[in-house]
Amino acid sequence: MNQKEILIIGSNGQLGTALKTKYPRAVAVDYEELDITSLKNLKAFDWSRFKIILNAAAYTNVDGAETNEGRIAAWKINANGPVNLAEIASEKGLILLHISTDYVFDGMTNKHNEDESFSPLGVYGSSKAAGDLIVSSIEKHYILRTSWVIGEGKNFVRTMIEIGRKGINPSVVSDQIGRLTFTSELVRAIDFLISNNSDFGTYNLSNDGKENSWADITRKIFKEMGVDNIVNEVTTEEYYNNKNDIARRPLKSTLNLGKIQGMGFKSKTWEDELLKYINEETAK
Ligand SMILES: NC(=O)c1ccc[n+]([C@@H]2O[C@H](COP(=O)([O-])OP(=O)(O)OC[C@H]3O[C@@H](n4cnc5c(N)ncnc54)[C@H](OP(=O)(O)O)[C@@H]3O)[C@@H](O)[C@H]2O)c1
Repeated sequence: MNQKEILIIGSNGQLGTALKTKYPRAVAVDYEELDITSLKNLKAFDWSRFKIILNAAAYTNVDGAETNEGRIAAWKINANGPVNLAEIASEKGLILLHISTDYVFDGMTNKHNEDESFSPLGVYGSSKAAGDLIVSSIEKHYILRTSWVIGEGKNFVRTMIEIGRKGINPSVVSDQIGRLTFTSELVRAIDFLISNNSDFGTYNLSNDGKENSWADITRKIFKEMGVDNIVNEVTTEEYYNNKNDIARRPLKSTLNLGKIQGMGFKSKTWEDELLKYINEETAK
């Protein structure tokens, strides 16, 4: 695969940053250079050298999406954006790779399969489900459905490392269950799919490993850091009690990885990747 035929959109986000590292010769654009909500902008763009669009752009502020302005932004970026990209991709015959989320589900099933019916609990999940529907309607598409993404940028693990350093004993939710996804794993899976000309369609993708709660993960982080901060377990309901504009969250986020693993993709566990990530972060 010729990297110069790849366009990375949303390249300053967590996933976009990891994609730029993997494909240094690809063209990488973010909001300022290419706004996916503007069909006019997209139509004026020179697509002639590209074969693959990797769309890492999204509105990812789950609670922000519940506000008046956020609701509009989430739908524009997560639904209208993919509509525009799908139109361009089908018109030009390009492959469109898009990223979905466990938030398209209500989290009532223990493990989510790719073909589970959508049942989003909030605006973010609804807007992402709309994006999935349009992307899945074009022929040359990949949708990678992921959960609990950790990379370069603001994320849960970084927040807890900071809390660990400050000696704070945090209250952490213990009834949301899932697995982390390091951007390195997402990038490996993206490369696996596009390099092997894999069948188009939707693929679940998180790191493999044990299903854990955010509280369990926090305890692992503190243990690895060698600090003795105490994790106070709370339920999701207790954590968000009396706060406004909070999105309901799925309680069970674990994704069934059987489809992509069945095609030969070798998953790495989030436990191993977490240790590497903590060592890198604490060495900074
Ligand atoms: N983070 C998670 O835990 C999680 C979990 C499941 C699925 N996902 C999905 O994984 C994908 C990548 O997430 P991420 O964590 O890497 O997101 P992120 O860090 O929030 O990055 C999103 C990027 O998209 C850019 N963007 C926003 N609006 C745009 C527009 N109109 N046109 C072009 N670019 C725009 C953002 O730019 P600005 O910063 O300038 O706005 C940002 O650089 C998303 O599809 C997300 O829904 C994420």
